[in-house]
Amino acid sequence: MNVMNGTNMSNMSLKIIGTGKGIPARHVSNEDLSNYIDADDNWIVSRTGIKKRYVCTDETITDLSAAAALQAIEKSGLTPAGIDLIICTTIGGDYRTPSLACCILGRIGAKCPAFDINAACTGFIYALNVASCFLSAGNAKNILIVSAEMMSAQVDWGDRSTCVLFGDGAAACVVTNGGALRYINLLATSDTPILNIPVDTGNSPFVSKKRERGFVQMQGQEIFKFAVNTVENEIKHALSALKMSLEQINWFILHQANRRIIDSIRTKMRQPQEKFPVNIDRYGNLSSVSIPLLLFEMQEECKIKPGDTLFLAAFGAGLTAGSCVVVWE
Ligand code: UT7
Repeated sequence: MNVMNGTNMSNMSLKIIGTGKGIPARHVSNEDLSNYIDADDNWIVSRTGIKKRYVCTDETITDLSAAAALQAIEKSGLTPAGIDLIICTTIGGDYRTPSLACCILGRIGAKCPAFDINAACTGFIYALNVASCFLSAGNAKNILIVSAEMMSAQVDWGDRSTCVLFGDGAAACVVTNGGALRYINLLATSDTPILNIPVDTGNSPFVSKKRERGFVQMQGQEIFKFAVNTVENEIKHALSALKMSLEQINWFILHQANRRIIDSIRTKMRQPQEKFPVNIDRYGNLSSVSIPLLLFEMQEECKIKPGDTLFLAAFGAGLTAGSCVVVWE
């Protein structure tokens, strides 16, 4: 696979000072799904670990994002006026344009630059790297990162092999200057057929070969192999760069695409299950939201303690991947 090595920057300035979540009211169990599609609870649980997911009914992505953003800002001890940059990670907000970040800005009443990043499921790791560059350069002091996805609008509800996998939701964090980010690495390839969502060609009279809007198409087993191999390499790469051992990592916070991907990585690393927190059973695959949502939950449950070392890794369409090491302050 044509993997390009991306940035590898240690000692970048960043620490997380508040987290939040925005989840739709409606949850749908595997059993509920069988009212709509030919889905089998046994297959879904045994092949993925997913038991339920949340889906938007009347909520917009902006609604979910604003709820997550306001909670993260409040927990950081700031107000929206104190935010001087909003970075949003999403594969599609409520509009193709303006960006979801601009919609969030208006809803929460912030006054600052705002833009979206699309690195698919790896978006949150990309956002941490971009945020650390703004902070290190002195171009921002308090940055709001919101990850938000409405995957229920991106899947074909007639395709049981994809629609059962994903869910909707948002998670946010506020980051500021600090020494928490010890290592970060981004990767990208161009392998469109493995995972994509086609856009249509509109109604231009100049197009001879019209393309319709499409839904999530993916070669699940190819992504599975990419994920396990890439995350394993990323762990080794990070540990070697930081001269650390596996035992010095307290938490492996991985993108939640499939419980079996997480278990395969854990088994290869010979690490205990408790060090690999999961939320895929309750939310399904939330794309770029799954890692910041895990951070929110672990902070709420007081699982992460100051001084803990976290390894974060994600992978997704592109294909993209990324990892980082954060010491919780
Ligand atoms: O977030 C990043 C993007 N996505 C990923 O990372 C996904 C990574 N890949 C995966 O998680 C797994 O490859 C999948 C969950 C997508 C698929 O698991 P698998 O073990 O690779 O399953 P498979 O493709 O080998 O299984 C396909 C079979 C088919 O039946 P036959 O043709 O083998 O008889 C499907 O019809 O499983 C059947 N199937 C289902 N059966 C009941 C597919 N979906 C369902 C379903 N209920 N919902």
